Amino acid sequence: MNVVRSNRPKVGVIKYSEIIVIGSGIAGMFAALRLAPRKVTLLTKTPSLTGGSTAWAQGGIAGAVGLTDSPQEHASDTILAGAGLNVSSAVEVLTTEGADRLNELISMGAPFDRDEKGQIILGREAAHGQRRIVHAGGDSTGHHIHKWLSNIVSKTPSIEVKESAFAWELVVSNNHICGVLVYQYKEGWVFHKAPFVVLATGGSGQLFSATTNPSEATADGLAMAIRAGLKVADLEFVQFHPTALSSSRTSKGLPMPLITEALRGEGATLHNSKGQRFMKDVHPEAELAPRDIVARSIWERLIEGEKVYLDVREVLSQNLNNRFPTVQSICVEAGIDPKTEMIPVAPAAHYHMGGIAADESGRTSLQGLWVCGEVASTGAHGANRLASNSLLEGVVFGHRVAEDIPQKQTYSINNAEVYVPIIPELSKKIALEKLTQGLRKLMYEKVGLRRSASGLELAIASHEKLANEIDDLEARKSQKSPTFVQVRKWGELRNLALVGHLVTIASLKRCESRGAHYRTDFPNLEPRLATRKYFTYEDINTNSDSEGTSFDGTKRESKNAISSYL
Ligand code: FAD
Ligand code: SIN
Repeated sequence: MNVVRSNRPKVGVIKYSEIIVIGSGIAGMFAALRLAPRKVTLLTKTPSLTGGSTAWAQGGIAGAVGLTDSPQEHASDTILAGAGLNVSSAVEVLTTEGADRLNELISMGAPFDRDEKGQIILGREAAHGQRRIVHAGGDSTGHHIHKWLSNIVSKTPSIEVKESAFAWELVVSNNHICGVLVYQYKEGWVFHKAPFVVLATGGSGQLFSATTNPSEATADGLAMAIRAGLKVADLEFVQFHPTALSSSRTSKGLPMPLITEALRGEGATLHNSKGQRFMKDVHPEAELAPRDIVARSIWERLIEGEKVYLDVREVLSQNLNNRFPTVQSICVEAGIDPKTEMIPVAPAAHYHMGGIAADESGRTSLQGLWVCGEVASTGAHGANRLASNSLLEGVVFGHRVAEDIPQKQTYSINNAEVYVPIIPELSKKIALEKLTQGLRKLMYEKVGLRRSASGLELAIASHEKLANEIDDLEARKSQKSPTFVQVRKWGELRNLALVGHLVTIASLKRCESRGAHYRTDFPNLEPRLATRKYFTYEDINTNSDSEGTSFDGTKRESKNAISSYL
């Protein structure tokens, strides 16, 4: 049992579900749809189904649906980008079943863009050997697909949607999931009991001050799983998108608007302050090199005080039938005319390859709990995700999870009980926002595109201070009737602090540079380290990973910091 504060009152409101799905992004909604007609309770923390990264996706969905394409070619591009860490069986599932799922979406009427002859238009993005990206509304793919799926979900009688429902903790008893503790806008604390739970809570981008991810991407699912003792994998691998619009929004904590990679696929070029096209000297594929290489090349210039620009003027002058309306409006809002001016860009945290360790059916190390979408780490992306493979992952693994959940439960969930958690009263001085922004800034500076042992150790020491502060605040005074926003914000800070700490530890442990993980003190890829790293909460407490290897080279006392979250 993990949600125990036995001196606290018991949660009295209990609801029963056959299956709970947490998250209304592409993965959660697709899983819920594929589970129909089985009864599903779909929980999401936003006031409507729209929340999470899915609705913000621009470029599109990759899939070997073109006449000259094959899943094998898609797989080899995925593996090349993944820098030696892909799990080949997961890649095979992603690319082979990906083509099938994409064809199904097309026949279900997904609003993908078509040419005058009615053929689906295929776009190109970095590190794809050929055109294989389907898109909708030009560069508003996420918005259109999310809207289309939400509409179907809302009309599906077997799916009961609970909005403004913040999942706080997984409830575990006898090594089995029993349900989820949730704070709901109107009802307050509710214990949703269920024998089967699907986590589809998306990514962790909000860990970093510069991110393309929306405010919901606070690593909640990952943190809940870690606290529940699940195995996690490859947490050090965080992908930074090379081209977010560089604007004053970053310092205000807002997501950075994305300037889609599809523009580079159509010929947009990157330039330094002198107007020189620098990527040609860095990689044979120039602007279409793997994402980590382009992102780091931009970052290196920015920290030397240069500016980097994306030149889309030539691309926008071609008649692309409103291919990039989102980028156009983002630029106009920032006072830039992309048809005549170059766009200032900077890398921003975009996608977490690490996550809850899962097999190809989305099964985790906890009985009864499945995961899909960005929160999962199946190994399909290796150390660096290939563009547009993420929406695809949502449908492929969402489908697989739904197929895998047994028809009958074989254990009892009746005995589990949970206690009302502490939501501390915060003075204005300890503004929650200040703690959160401090963590995000630290993560971007020390655990971002370039990492070193000294920076990571410094970050770990700060995380430990934050953990103690969180502990102290919880020990002080609990609010009697917190608002939904107070619970959500406090919960998100706890989750970010925990996951930030573990991402940093994992980054310190990987003494090499590979894919999205770059160490200035270990700049080379070490072939002997081409293995995924799995660990659990318990492993961190005993200073080892799940293979029993010691976390060497650090002086931290992780035991105290970690146990303070319990
Ligand atoms: P999300 O879509 O992030 O959904 C997570 C859901 O979980 C949300 O509904 C959220 O509200 C809910 N949730 C989270 N925590 C809780 C909680 N505690 N309680 C209850 N509910 C909770 N990928 C591509 O393949 N192609 C692209 O073109 C592309 N473009 C992108 C552009 C941008 C700007 C961004 C940010 C990402 C892009 N990606 C793209 C990545 C892709 O969008 C995401 O990886 C993918 O959408 C994740 O889907 P998901 O269903 O796993 O999670
Ligand atoms: C983009 O459109 O550049 C984002 C694509 C992705 O993250 O897969």
